[in-house]
Amino acid sequence: MRIAMIGTGYVGLVSGACFSDFGHDVICVDKDARKIDALKQGVMPIFEPGLDHLVERNVRDGRLAFTTDLKEGVEGAEAVFIAVGTPSRRGDGHADLSYVFGAAEEIARALSGPAVVVTKSTVPVGTGDEVERIIRETAPDAQAWVVSNPEFLREGAAIEDFKRPDRIVVGTDSEAAAELMREIYRPLYLNKAPLLFTGRRTAELIKYAANAFLATKITFINEIADLCEIVGADVQDVARGIGLDNRIGAKFLHAGPGYGGSCFPKDTLALLKTAEDHQAPLRIVESVVKVNDARKRAMGRKVIQALGGDARGRTIALLGLTFKPNTDDMRDAPSLSIVQALQDAGASVRGYDPEGIEQARPMMPGVDFFDSPYRAADGADAVVLVTEWDVLRALDLKRLASTMKQPIFVDLRSVYPPEEIEEAGLRWFGIGRPPRG
Ligand SMILES: NC(=O)c1ccc[n+]([C@@H]2O[C@H](COP(=O)([O-])OP(=O)(O)OC[C@H]3O[C@@H](n4cnc5c(N)ncnc54)[C@H](O)[C@@H]3O)[C@@H](O)[C@H]2O)c1
Repeated sequence: MRIAMIGTGYVGLVSGACFSDFGHDVICVDKDARKIDALKQGVMPIFEPGLDHLVERNVRDGRLAFTTDLKEGVEGAEAVFIAVGTPSRRGDGHADLSYVFGAAEEIARALSGPAVVVTKSTVPVGTGDEVERIIRETAPDAQAWVVSNPEFLREGAAIEDFKRPDRIVVGTDSEAAAELMREIYRPLYLNKAPLLFTGRRTAELIKYAANAFLATKITFINEIADLCEIVGADVQDVARGIGLDNRIGAKFLHAGPGYGGSCFPKDTLALLKTAEDHQAPLRIVESVVKVNDARKRAMGRKVIQALGGDARGRTIALLGLTFKPNTDDMRDAPSLSIVQALQDAGASVRGYDPEGIEQARPMMPGVDFFDSPYRAADGADAVVLVTEWDVLRALDLKRLASTMKQPIFVDLRSVYPPEEIEEAGLRWFGIGRPPRG
């Protein structure tokens, strides 16, 4: 099948490459000429494990190509996916749909035959109706079915998630469109990935409800972590104790510095906006958003407390800057709020990240970046473990301690047992347990 993927970012590039790996002919389109030029040279514009090999193989076999020319991509395609960004609109938190609507209009002008137009971007309920209207008004003679197919992949494990999804959600009322979608996902369907057909609005809402639920689970355990610190309990044991209950499940119960990334923050806000517009308030999600925002900043205060309440003139090294490991994505990363809080308190901040420095640099003015955790920690008053990259899970703590000015280690991901930190000659500070003697 001929597929056009409009938008070649984290979702579009991974989806396009995986579809081509299933045997489909895919053209990935992006307005960003630098991205497309890089891809044509075999250079990945993002860091995602395994992506370079997947792209290289499928380009070599002639099933995957890149262009900035949307018309060329859409010409002759039986399925056109929209995978453009839907960031938060400045001011009100609503999803900014201008890229989706812009793409819909361009697609309508470029359609040369019958096709399904599939919204893979995360979009509020009713967006499919609007995309359909735009296509009908722009190209009244075009034969297009507008389908919702939200994406659930996680950055850092995107290829595995795309190829072995828990489910594939397809929202359409058209049997012809459903048949085409079955054909596209046939290789996964044969692997028994559940293909869930729903109405288009339902599919759109499933994506937001899933992300809001996961954000709630994270925020729940983060608040329990705060309580543990005060009452003398251990949040990791609490998480294990509740997670072993099948009705609860163990995932997303790891207390940390608050959720970030390109999805949860903006999607929870957009869902609240939808709920408000329809006068059906979602009070639990409202609290989640507030609690999470406050938590990110509170992590900066925790570091300042570890320094005895005054960070002015101190040097603090943050290890791990991306919102989670195995991605270079810095969007809404907790590290951004922590840096701000520390700089506001008069500290000098240093940063280390295995893949995220290039993206972090313009977002963190005044931060000094280092290419090794040890160099970042050399002479620092405190080290803060913010993102649990594998290379930060087996640090030589004694080496770290030997070059630091003050031996303060703040572990915001509970990677190291406090005893191990202390044996290395460092003082432990962290979350979800009472402070140490
Ligand atoms: N990143 C994730 O982990 C993830 C997971 C699931 C769903 N989503 C959703 O998928 C969508 C895309 O997210 P992303 O992280 O891949 O975004 P991104 O910002 O990485 O990529 C979007 C790309 O679309 C391009 N673009 C915009 N308008 C275009 C047009 N008219 N024609 C061609 N290209 C155009 C941009 O240049 C950009 O490269 C969002 O709605 C997001 O919420 C993201």
